[in-house]
Amino acid sequence: MRNAGLEEAQARIKIAGRNINNLRYADNTTLMAESEEELKSLLMKVKEESEQGWIRSVRSQKEVLFLHVNDGSSLESLQVVADSSFDSRELAFGSSVEVQGQLVKSPSKKQNVELKAEKIEVVGNCDAKDSGFVHIHTPVITSNDCEGAGELFQVEPSSKIKVPEENFFNIPVFLTVSGQLHLEVMSGAFTQVFTFGPTFRAENSQSRRHLAEFYMVEAEISFLESLQDLMQVMESLFKTTAMTVLSNCPKDVELCHKFIAPGQKDRLEHMLKNNFLIISYTEAVEILKQASQNFTFTPEWGADLHTEHEKYLVKHCGDIPVFVINYPLALKPFYMRENEDGPQHTVAAVDLLVPGIGELFGGSLREERYHFLEQRLARLGLTEAYQWYLDLRRFGSVPHGGFGMGFERYLQCILGIDNIKDVIPFPRFTHSCLL
Ligand code: 4AD
Ligand code: MG
Repeated sequence: MRNAGLEEAQARIKIAGRNINNLRYADNTTLMAESEEELKSLLMKVKEESEQGWIRSVRSQKEVLFLHVNDGSSLESLQVVADSSFDSRELAFGSSVEVQGQLVKSPSKKQNVELKAEKIEVVGNCDAKDSGFVHIHTPVITSNDCEGAGELFQVEPSSKIKVPEENFFNIPVFLTVSGQLHLEVMSGAFTQVFTFGPTFRAENSQSRRHLAEFYMVEAEISFLESLQDLMQVMESLFKTTAMTVLSNCPKDVELCHKFIAPGQKDRLEHMLKNNFLIISYTEAVEILKQASQNFTFTPEWGADLHTEHEKYLVKHCGDIPVFVINYPLALKPFYMRENEDGPQHTVAAVDLLVPGIGELFGGSLREERYHFLEQRLARLGLTEAYQWYLDLRRFGSVPHGGFGMGFERYLQCILGIDNIKDVIPFPRFTHSCLL
Protein backbone atom coordinates (compact mmCIF):
# COMPACT_ATOMS: atom_id res chain seq x y z
CA MET A 1 0.00 0.00 0.00
CA ARG A 2 2.56 2.47 -1.23
CA ASN A 3 0.75 5.76 -0.99
CA ALA A 4 -1.47 4.88 1.83
CA GLY A 5 -1.31 7.26 4.75
CA LEU A 6 -0.18 10.16 2.58
CA GLU A 7 -1.94 12.58 4.85
CA GLU A 8 -0.12 11.26 7.84
CA ALA A 9 3.22 11.46 6.09
CA GLN A 10 2.53 15.07 5.35
CA ALA A 11 1.37 15.75 8.85
CA ARG A 12 3.56 18.01 10.90
CA ILE A 13 6.15 16.13 12.80
CA LYS A 14 8.64 17.19 15.39
CA ILE A 15 12.11 16.00 14.67
CA ALA A 16 15.71 16.76 15.41
CA GLY A 17 18.80 14.97 14.29
CA ARG A 18 17.80 11.37 14.76
CA ASN A 19 19.32 8.73 12.62
CA ILE A 20 16.36 8.50 10.30
CA ASN A 21 18.24 8.40 7.05
CA ASN A 22 17.33 4.79 6.58
CA LEU A 23 13.64 5.53 6.20
CA ARG A 24 12.31 4.79 2.75
CA TYR A 25 10.49 7.33 0.63
CA ALA A 26 8.10 6.91 -2.24
CA ASP A 27 8.24 10.52 -3.36
CA ASN A 28 9.07 13.88 -1.91
CA THR A 29 6.58 13.77 0.88
CA THR A 30 5.53 10.19 1.35
CA LEU A 31 7.18 7.75 3.64
CA MET A 32 7.30 4.39 1.96
CA ALA A 33 5.76 1.65 3.94
CA GLU A 34 4.29 -1.70 3.12
CA SER A 35 1.26 -1.03 5.21
CA GLU A 36 -0.50 1.74 6.96
CA GLU A 37 0.53 0.12 10.21
CA GLU A 38 4.17 0.28 9.30
CA LEU A 39 3.87 3.87 8.21
CA LYS A 40 2.21 4.79 11.47
CA SER A 41 4.87 3.08 13.46
CA LEU A 42 7.59 4.81 11.48
CA LEU A 43 6.02 8.16 12.10
CA MET A 44 5.50 7.38 15.75
CA LYS A 45 9.16 6.43 16.02
CA VAL A 46 10.19 9.70 14.49
CA LYS A 47 7.81 11.63 16.68
CA GLU A 48 8.74 9.95 19.90
CA GLU A 49 12.45 9.83 19.50
CA SER A 50 13.16 13.12 17.89
CA GLU A 51 12.11 16.29 19.52
CA GLN A 52 15.15 18.41 20.25
CA GLY A 53 18.75 18.71 19.16
CA TRP A 54 21.76 20.94 19.00
CA ILE A 55 22.85 22.95 15.99
CA ARG A 56 26.10 21.56 14.64
CA SER A 57 26.42 23.88 11.66
CA VAL A 58 24.69 26.85 10.09
CA ARG A 59 24.93 27.76 6.43
CA SER A 60 23.10 30.90 5.53
CA GLN A 61 22.39 31.55 1.85
CA LYS A 62 20.49 34.33 0.18
CA GLU A 63 17.13 32.60 0.20
CA VAL A 64 17.65 29.49 2.28
CA LEU A 65 19.14 28.60 5.59
CA PHE A 66 20.67 25.18 6.17
CA LEU A 67 21.08 23.84 9.69
CA HIS A 68 22.55 20.55 10.76
CA VAL A 69 20.84 19.44 13.93
CA ASN A 70 21.98 16.54 16.08
CA ASP A 71 20.74 15.14 19.36
CA GLY A 72 23.70 12.91 19.99
CA SER A 73 22.01 9.62 19.19
CA SER A 74 23.79 9.33 15.87
CA LEU A 75 26.92 10.70 14.30
CA GLU A 76 24.86 11.91 11.37
CA SER A 77 22.96 15.15 11.74
CA LEU A 78 19.62 15.95 10.22
CA GLN A 79 19.62 18.64 7.59
CA VAL A 80 17.02 21.31 8.25
CA VAL A 81 16.14 23.58 5.35
CA ALA A 82 14.46 26.83 6.25
CA ASP A 83 13.44 30.02 4.58
CA SER A 84 16.08 32.72 5.10
CA SER A 85 13.52 34.70 7.11
CA PHE A 86 14.21 32.22 9.95
CA ASP A 87 17.81 33.38 10.15
CA SER A 88 18.67 34.92 13.51
CA ARG A 89 21.65 35.42 15.80
CA GLU A 90 20.20 32.79 18.11
CA LEU A 91 20.45 30.06 15.48
CA ALA A 92 24.09 29.45 16.17
CA PHE A 93 26.46 26.58 16.70
CA GLY A 94 25.65 24.91 20.00
CA SER A 95 22.13 26.29 20.47
CA SER A 96 19.48 23.69 21.17
CA VAL A 97 16.38 23.88 18.99
CA GLU A 98 13.04 22.30 18.41
CA VAL A 99 12.12 22.16 14.77
CA GLN A 100 8.72 21.45 13.28
CA GLY A 101 8.17 20.90 9.63
CA GLN A 102 7.77 18.38 6.89
CA LEU A 103 10.15 15.56 6.36
CA VAL A 104 10.89 15.42 2.64
CA LYS A 105 13.17 13.54 0.36
CA SER A 106 16.38 15.46 -0.05
CA PRO A 107 17.46 16.56 -3.53
CA SER A 108 21.07 16.08 -2.42
CA LYS A 109 22.86 12.75 -2.52
CA LYS A 110 24.40 13.43 0.88
CA GLN A 111 21.22 12.54 2.75
CA ASN A 112 18.01 10.74 1.98
CA VAL A 113 15.74 13.09 3.82
CA GLU A 114 15.72 16.61 5.14
CA LEU A 115 13.34 18.59 7.25
CA LYS A 116 11.60 21.56 5.66
CA ALA A 117 11.19 23.80 8.64
CA GLU A 118 7.91 25.51 9.35
CA LYS A 119 8.69 26.51 12.89
CA ILE A 120 12.03 26.72 14.68
CA GLU A 121 12.12 27.33 18.37
CA VAL A 122 15.37 28.00 20.22
CA VAL A 123 15.25 25.97 23.43
CA GLY A 124 18.59 27.04 24.83
CA ASN A 125 20.82 29.79 23.59
CA CYS A 126 24.49 29.28 23.06
CA ASP A 127 26.63 32.38 22.88
CA ALA A 128 28.15 30.74 19.86
CA LYS A 129 27.61 33.56 17.41
CA ASP A 130 29.31 35.91 19.85
CA SER A 131 32.08 33.63 20.90
CA GLY A 132 31.69 30.26 19.17
CA PHE A 133 33.96 28.52 21.66
CA VAL A 134 33.42 24.95 22.79
CA HIS A 135 34.38 24.18 26.39
CA ILE A 136 36.94 21.39 26.65
CA HIS A 137 37.89 19.76 29.95
CA THR A 138 41.63 19.42 29.51
CA PRO A 139 43.42 17.00 31.87
CA VAL A 140 45.09 18.05 35.10
CA ILE A 141 47.55 15.16 34.92
CA THR A 142 49.73 15.21 31.82
CA SER A 143 53.06 13.99 30.54
CA ASN A 144 53.97 17.24 28.71
CA ASP A 145 55.77 20.36 29.85
CA CYS A 146 53.98 22.73 27.49
CA GLU A 147 55.95 25.81 28.48
CA GLY A 148 59.27 23.96 28.56
CA ALA A 149 60.29 25.86 31.66
CA GLY A 150 60.70 22.79 33.84
CA GLU A 151 58.43 24.22 36.53
CA LEU A 152 56.65 20.94 37.01
CA PHE A 153 55.13 19.14 39.96
CA GLN A 154 55.52 15.42 39.41
CA VAL A 155 52.64 13.11 40.26
CA GLU A 156 53.19 9.70 41.84
CA PRO A 157 51.28 7.66 44.40
CA SER A 158 52.23 8.66 47.93
CA SER A 159 53.97 5.31 48.43
CA LYS A 160 56.82 6.84 46.33
CA ILE A 161 57.99 4.31 43.82
CA LYS A 162 61.66 4.91 43.01
CA VAL A 163 62.33 2.71 39.95
CA PRO A 164 61.33 4.59 36.76
CA GLU A 165 59.61 1.54 35.19
CA GLU A 166 57.39 1.49 38.23
CA ASN A 167 55.93 4.90 37.59
CA PHE A 168 52.18 4.71 38.12
CA PHE A 169 51.58 5.70 34.48
CA ASN A 170 54.77 3.99 33.21
CA ILE A 171 56.17 7.41 32.35
CA PRO A 172 56.79 10.47 34.50
CA VAL A 173 53.66 12.63 34.67
CA PHE A 174 52.99 16.08 36.06
CA LEU A 175 50.30 18.51 37.12
CA THR A 176 49.49 20.58 34.07
CA VAL A 177 51.22 23.92 33.45
CA SER A 178 48.83 24.67 30.57
CA GLY A 179 46.01 22.97 28.69
CA GLN A 180 47.18 24.49 25.42
CA LEU A 181 48.50 21.39 23.68
CA HIS A 182 45.31 19.47 24.41
CA LEU A 183 43.30 22.42 23.16
CA GLU A 184 45.31 22.37 19.94
CA VAL A 185 44.18 18.78 19.40
CA MET A 186 40.55 19.71 20.01
CA SER A 187 40.64 22.87 17.90
CA GLY A 188 41.21 20.53 14.97
CA ALA A 189 37.71 19.19 15.58
CA PHE A 190 35.78 22.17 16.92
CA THR A 191 37.67 25.15 15.42
CA GLN A 192 37.31 27.38 18.48
CA VAL A 193 37.81 25.89 21.93
CA PHE A 194 38.54 26.97 25.47
CA THR A 195 39.38 25.51 28.84
CA PHE A 196 39.22 26.94 32.33
CA GLY A 197 40.88 25.00 35.07
CA PRO A 198 43.53 24.72 37.73
CA THR A 199 47.09 25.14 36.54
CA PHE A 200 50.28 24.43 38.47
CA ARG A 201 53.73 25.94 38.40
CA ALA A 202 56.61 25.00 40.68
CA GLU A 203 57.93 28.54 40.42
CA ASN A 204 60.09 29.49 43.34
CA SER A 205 58.48 32.87 43.65
CA GLN A 206 56.92 34.69 46.57
CA SER A 207 55.84 37.60 44.40
CA ARG A 208 52.52 39.41 44.53
CA ARG A 209 51.51 37.90 41.19
CA HIS A 210 52.63 34.27 41.40
CA LEU A 211 50.88 31.24 42.81
CA ALA A 212 51.86 27.56 42.66
CA GLU A 213 48.22 26.73 41.87
CA PHE A 214 46.14 29.18 39.87
CA TYR A 215 43.29 29.14 37.37
CA MET A 216 43.82 29.84 33.71
CA VAL A 217 41.36 30.58 30.91
CA GLU A 218 42.84 29.33 27.66
CA ALA A 219 41.49 29.61 24.13
CA GLU A 220 42.62 28.10 20.84
CA ILE A 221 41.39 29.17 17.42
CA SER A 222 41.85 27.33 14.14
CA PHE A 223 42.16 29.20 10.83
CA LEU A 224 43.52 32.21 12.67
CA GLU A 225 46.35 33.77 10.71
CA SER A 226 47.36 37.00 12.39
CA LEU A 227 48.28 38.31 15.82
CA GLN A 228 45.89 41.17 15.06
CA ASP A 229 42.94 38.76 15.04
CA LEU A 230 44.20 37.06 18.20
CA MET A 231 44.60 40.36 20.03
CA GLN A 232 41.02 41.29 19.14
CA VAL A 233 39.77 38.16 20.90
CA MET A 234 41.98 38.88 23.92
CA GLU A 235 40.86 42.49 24.22
CA SER A 236 37.23 41.55 23.80
CA LEU A 237 37.53 38.81 26.47
CA PHE A 238 39.06 41.32 28.88
CA LYS A 239 36.44 43.97 28.21
CA THR A 240 33.25 41.92 27.92
CA THR A 241 34.10 39.96 31.07
CA ALA A 242 34.77 43.15 33.01
CA MET A 243 31.48 44.67 31.80
CA THR A 244 29.61 41.51 32.79
CA VAL A 245 31.17 41.52 36.26
CA LEU A 246 30.40 45.22 36.66
CA SER A 247 26.77 44.82 35.63
CA ASN A 248 26.09 41.54 37.45
CA CYS A 249 27.79 42.25 40.77
CA PRO A 250 28.06 46.03 41.06
CA LYS A 251 27.82 45.98 44.87
CA ASP A 252 30.77 43.61 45.35
CA VAL A 253 32.93 45.52 42.92
CA GLU A 254 31.99 48.80 44.55
CA LEU A 255 32.96 47.44 47.95
CA CYS A 256 36.44 46.54 46.69
CA HIS A 257 36.84 49.80 44.86
CA LYS A 258 35.71 51.85 47.83
CA PHE A 259 37.57 50.22 50.70
CA ILE A 260 40.53 48.41 49.18
CA ALA A 261 41.43 50.24 46.01
CA PRO A 262 40.26 53.85 45.94
CA GLY A 263 40.56 55.26 42.44
CA GLN A 264 40.31 51.81 40.86
CA LYS A 265 36.86 52.52 39.40
CA ASP A 266 38.30 55.32 37.28
CA ARG A 267 41.38 53.29 36.37
CA LEU A 268 39.16 50.42 35.19
CA GLU A 269 36.92 52.74 33.20
CA HIS A 270 40.01 54.19 31.57
CA MET A 271 41.08 50.68 30.53
CA LEU A 272 37.63 49.78 29.23
CA LYS A 273 37.01 52.87 27.14
CA ASN A 274 40.37 53.00 25.40
CA ASN A 275 41.67 50.77 22.65
CA PHE A 276 44.55 48.67 23.97
CA LEU A 277 47.91 49.62 22.51
CA ILE A 278 50.34 47.47 20.55
CA ILE A 279 54.14 47.71 20.59
CA SER A 280 56.77 45.26 19.46
CA TYR A 281 59.28 43.70 21.86
CA THR A 282 62.00 45.65 20.07
CA GLU A 283 60.14 48.94 20.63
CA ALA A 284 59.55 47.96 24.25
CA VAL A 285 63.29 47.46 24.83
CA GLU A 286 63.99 50.85 23.23
CA ILE A 287 61.47 52.54 25.54
CA LEU A 288 63.03 50.85 28.57
CA LYS A 289 66.55 51.81 27.53
CA GLN A 290 65.52 55.44 27.31
CA ALA A 291 63.77 55.38 30.67
CA SER A 292 65.13 57.58 33.41
CA GLN A 293 64.19 54.93 35.96
CA ASN A 294 66.92 52.61 37.25
CA PHE A 295 65.90 49.01 36.84
CA THR A 296 67.23 46.09 38.87
CA PHE A 297 67.62 44.19 35.58
CA THR A 298 69.21 46.24 32.79
CA PRO A 299 66.96 46.16 29.72
CA GLU A 300 68.64 44.57 26.76
CA TRP A 301 67.45 43.08 23.45
CA GLY A 302 67.30 39.31 23.88
CA ALA A 303 66.65 39.40 27.62
CA ASP A 304 63.28 38.64 29.20
CA LEU A 305 61.06 41.47 30.35
CA HIS A 306 60.79 41.53 34.15
CA THR A 307 57.81 42.74 36.18
CA GLU A 308 59.49 46.10 36.75
CA HIS A 309 59.89 46.52 32.99
CA GLU A 310 56.32 45.48 32.26
CA LYS A 311 54.90 47.87 34.83
CA TYR A 312 57.01 50.70 33.45
CA LEU A 313 55.82 50.03 29.90
CA VAL A 314 52.15 50.19 30.94
CA LYS A 315 52.75 53.49 32.77
CA HIS A 316 54.58 54.78 29.71
CA CYS A 317 51.48 53.87 27.66
CA GLY A 318 49.23 56.01 29.88
CA ASP A 319 47.95 53.15 32.05
CA ILE A 320 46.18 51.56 29.11
CA PRO A 321 46.78 47.81 28.69
CA VAL A 322 49.44 47.20 26.07
CA PHE A 323 50.14 44.21 23.83
CA VAL A 324 53.83 43.45 23.38
CA ILE A 325 54.38 41.35 20.26
CA ASN A 326 57.15 39.51 18.40
CA TYR A 327 59.55 38.34 21.12
CA PRO A 328 62.95 36.77 20.42
CA LEU A 329 62.58 33.10 19.57
CA ALA A 330 65.12 32.12 22.20
CA LEU A 331 62.90 33.46 25.01
CA LYS A 332 59.75 31.61 24.10
CA PRO A 333 58.44 28.02 24.09
CA PHE A 334 58.88 25.64 21.14
CA TYR A 335 55.33 25.92 19.78
CA MET A 336 55.42 29.59 18.77
CA ARG A 337 55.41 30.48 15.08
CA GLU A 338 58.65 31.81 13.60
CA ASN A 339 58.43 35.22 11.97
CA GLU A 340 61.25 34.46 9.52
CA ASP A 341 62.71 37.91 10.09
CA GLY A 342 66.37 37.20 9.51
CA PRO A 343 68.99 37.85 12.12
CA GLN A 344 66.50 39.13 14.69
CA HIS A 345 64.75 35.79 14.76
CA THR A 346 61.49 36.54 16.52
CA VAL A 347 58.31 34.55 17.01
CA ALA A 348 54.65 35.63 16.70
CA ALA A 349 54.15 35.86 20.46
CA VAL A 350 51.90 38.28 22.29
CA ASP A 351 51.75 39.24 25.96
CA LEU A 352 49.15 41.63 27.32
CA LEU A 353 50.51 43.89 30.05
CA VAL A 354 48.10 45.63 32.42
CA PRO A 355 48.48 48.39 35.04
CA GLY A 356 49.81 47.39 38.43
CA ILE A 357 50.47 43.76 37.50
CA GLY A 358 52.32 43.44 34.22
CA GLU A 359 51.66 40.27 32.22
CA LEU A 360 48.05 39.14 32.31
CA PHE A 361 47.75 37.19 29.04
CA GLY A 362 50.34 35.14 27.17
CA GLY A 363 49.63 33.87 23.67
CA SER A 364 50.95 33.28 20.18
CA LEU A 365 50.38 32.00 16.70
CA ARG A 366 51.37 28.33 16.72
CA GLU A 367 53.98 26.84 14.42
CA GLU A 368 51.67 24.94 12.07
CA ARG A 369 54.34 24.23 9.41
CA TYR A 370 55.61 20.67 9.70
CA HIS A 371 59.23 21.29 8.73
CA PHE A 372 59.68 24.34 10.93
CA LEU A 373 58.29 22.51 13.92
CA GLU A 374 60.21 19.36 13.15
CA GLN A 375 63.48 21.28 13.12
CA ARG A 376 62.67 23.20 16.27
CA LEU A 377 61.80 20.04 18.19
CA ALA A 378 64.95 18.33 16.91
CA ARG A 379 67.14 21.22 18.07
CA LEU A 380 65.57 21.04 21.54
CA GLY A 381 65.79 17.24 21.70
CA LEU A 382 62.02 16.99 22.00
CA THR A 383 61.23 15.03 18.82
CA GLU A 384 60.29 11.82 20.55
CA ALA A 385 58.21 13.37 23.30
CA TYR A 386 56.23 15.53 20.89
CA GLN A 387 55.79 13.14 17.96
CA TRP A 388 52.01 13.25 18.48
CA TYR A 389 52.10 17.05 18.38
CA LEU A 390 54.16 17.03 15.20
CA ASP A 391 51.67 14.57 13.69
CA LEU A 392 48.94 17.20 14.06
CA ARG A 393 50.91 19.09 11.39
CA ARG A 394 50.90 16.10 9.05
CA PHE A 395 47.16 15.62 8.80
CA GLY A 396 45.26 18.71 7.67
CA SER A 397 47.28 21.29 9.55
CA VAL A 398 45.80 24.79 9.65
CA PRO A 399 47.12 28.15 10.84
CA HIS A 400 45.97 28.65 14.41
CA GLY A 401 46.70 30.52 17.59
CA GLY A 402 45.61 30.99 21.16
CA PHE A 403 46.30 32.45 24.55
CA GLY A 404 46.03 31.94 28.29
CA MET A 405 44.84 34.42 30.89
CA GLY A 406 45.59 34.04 34.58
CA PHE A 407 42.23 34.26 36.35
CA GLU A 408 43.55 35.51 39.70
CA ARG A 409 45.63 38.18 37.98
CA TYR A 410 42.50 39.20 36.11
CA LEU A 411 40.62 39.62 39.39
CA GLN A 412 43.54 41.63 40.77
CA CYS A 413 43.43 43.84 37.71
CA ILE A 414 39.74 44.67 37.69
CA LEU A 415 39.30 44.86 41.46
CA GLY A 416 42.57 46.64 42.15
CA ILE A 417 43.90 44.04 44.60
CA ASP A 418 47.61 44.33 45.15
CA ASN A 419 48.45 40.79 46.24
CA ILE A 420 47.36 37.71 44.31
CA LYS A 421 46.99 35.79 47.59
CA ASP A 422 44.01 38.01 48.41
CA VAL A 423 41.90 36.97 45.42
CA ILE A 424 41.90 33.22 46.12
CA PRO A 425 40.56 31.56 49.29
CA PHE A 426 43.35 29.00 49.64
CA PRO A 427 46.54 30.39 48.12
CA ARG A 428 49.38 27.94 47.45
CA PHE A 429 52.90 29.26 47.06
CA THR A 430 56.44 28.25 48.01
CA HIS A 431 56.63 27.14 51.63
CA SER A 432 52.88 27.52 52.11
CA CYS A 433 50.01 25.11 51.58
CA LEU A 434 47.54 25.62 54.40
CA LEU A 435 44.61 23.24 54.81
O1 4AD B 1 52.26 33.05 29.71
P1 4AD B 1 51.86 31.68 30.15
O2 4AD B 1 52.89 30.83 30.76
O3 4AD B 1 51.22 31.02 28.86
C1 4AD B 1 50.88 29.72 28.72
O4 4AD B 1 50.88 28.89 29.59
C2 4AD B 1 50.33 29.41 27.36
N1 4AD B 1 50.50 27.98 27.11
C3 4AD B 1 48.89 29.82 27.31
C4 4AD B 1 48.27 29.55 25.97
O5 4AD B 1 48.70 30.11 24.99
N2 4AD B 1 47.26 28.72 25.92
O6 4AD B 1 50.65 31.80 31.18
C5 4AD B 1 49.47 32.49 30.84
C6 4AD B 1 49.02 33.39 31.96
C7 4AD B 1 50.03 34.46 32.34
O7 4AD B 1 49.98 35.53 31.46
C8 4AD B 1 49.59 34.81 33.74
O8 4AD B 1 48.47 35.68 33.76
C9 4AD B 1 49.11 33.47 34.27
O9 4AD B 1 48.84 32.64 33.16
N3 4AD B 1 50.16 32.86 35.12
C10 4AD B 1 50.14 32.85 36.47
N4 4AD B 1 49.27 33.34 37.34
C11 4AD B 1 49.51 33.15 38.65
N5 4AD B 1 50.60 32.50 39.12
C12 4AD B 1 51.52 31.98 38.27
N6 4AD B 1 52.57 31.32 38.73
C13 4AD B 1 51.31 32.16 36.87
N7 4AD B 1 51.99 31.78 35.77
C14 4AD B 1 51.27 32.20 34.72
MG1 MG C 1 53.93 34.22 29.75
